[in-house]
Amino acid sequence: MLWRALVVVLVAASVSAFPRSGHITSSDVINQIISEGYPAELHQVTTADGYILGVHRIPYGKDGPSEGRRPVVFVMHGLMGASSNFIFLGKENGIAYNLADAGYDVWMGNARGNVFSRQHVSLNPDDNQQKNEFFDYSWEEISVIDVPAMVDYALAVSGEQTLHYVGHSQGGTSFLVLNSMKPEYNEKFVSAHLLAGVGYMDNFPNSELKIAAQMTTVLYTMARTMGLVEIRSLDDIPGNFVRRSGHSRTDYCFGDIVYKEYCNMLGLNKIMGDTDLEGLGVGGASLKQFAHYGQNIRDRTFRRWDHGIISNLLVYGERNPPAYDLGRITVPVTMHYTVSDELLDEQDVLAMARDLHSAEARKVARENFSHIDFIQAADVKELVTNYVIYKLNRVERMLAGME
Ligand SMILES: *[C@@H]1O[C@H](CO)[C@@H](O)[C@H](O)[C@H]1NC(C)=O
Repeated sequence: MLWRALVVVLVAASVSAFPRSGHITSSDVINQIISEGYPAELHQVTTADGYILGVHRIPYGKDGPSEGRRPVVFVMHGLMGASSNFIFLGKENGIAYNLADAGYDVWMGNARGNVFSRQHVSLNPDDNQQKNEFFDYSWEEISVIDVPAMVDYALAVSGEQTLHYVGHSQGGTSFLVLNSMKPEYNEKFVSAHLLAGVGYMDNFPNSELKIAAQMTTVLYTMARTMGLVEIRSLDDIPGNFVRRSGHSRTDYCFGDIVYKEYCNMLGLNKIMGDTDLEGLGVGGASLKQFAHYGQNIRDRTFRRWDHGIISNLLVYGERNPPAYDLGRITVPVTMHYTVSDELLDEQDVLAMARDLHSAEARKVARENFSHIDFIQAADVKELVTNYVIYKLNRVERMLAGME
């Protein structure tokens, strides 16, 4: 999906400007949460390298603030995702609402460059020159700069010492990368739930993508040459981040007539639909995030950005990029996974669980549950979220000395 989509976008971009529509804003998310009867806050966190990140908070549930303290849960979205993914299902089944109702203070992060974090103190992402620098990041920067900045901010504002982590897909990658590269962060997380958290790629399941990944370097180089450094969300129009009745498929082929023609001809809607991206792609991302996954799929590994041999020697002192060492992660982790995942194989999940200090792999009890079902299936509450809350409560009771 990713590289095929990129090829499509490349061709389309050469014909017409990338389509721009009315964008979702942070206020749309705030208004949506409030309309469901919950309190909502928007916070802005500026990273050490100048990105201004939008963070959404649901401080308590619909029944009002409960007595006593509310432990913090930090929730992180996947590739092309955004905080809005976690309210997509509405107040009954959206994990952010469920956690707030269970007594937690819910913070939803947004990675640099996505629709709610597309801001910088000095770089303009819409400037033809500055965009190259703005979007020159992968998920490693998101993991070791953005996530800790937002986590530290949430702890400071809430007055808590520690917190829980929930991450979907790349949000899981971020947790693994952060705690292996900055092991001091292990102290801050009391537990983590990775929902189809992507890491090891030894058995990447999608064979078409595996073939496409062989071309990562040439595609990435070509795209950059053409000035394509950002994958804008094709459906970041207000309203699309909320589940609507009768909503079946997002139309990615909108915009001017030339783009539309090319888009339909190349079957972008089909690619996005076939690969489960529909409904998820609200956030946008840097091309380098896709390329970093492409490298890892190609090399069947989970490691740092590959600059090429010469530059690797300069940057890392080795020919190959160093692998992320999961043995440095001591936080108790639950790895939720499903056997129908297009992007993550059961064997890789089990291998990660073995290499972590303290991990449980938990298979979702529905065979046809997909990668994106973690944020869009109505039964995610009974299949996943209820268990997450049960475990969080148990950890909290243990910490309170009640068990
Ligand atoms: C998943 O499988 C169940 C039967 O086990 C079926 O009822 C359901 O319709 C399937 N769901 C999807 C989304 O394919």
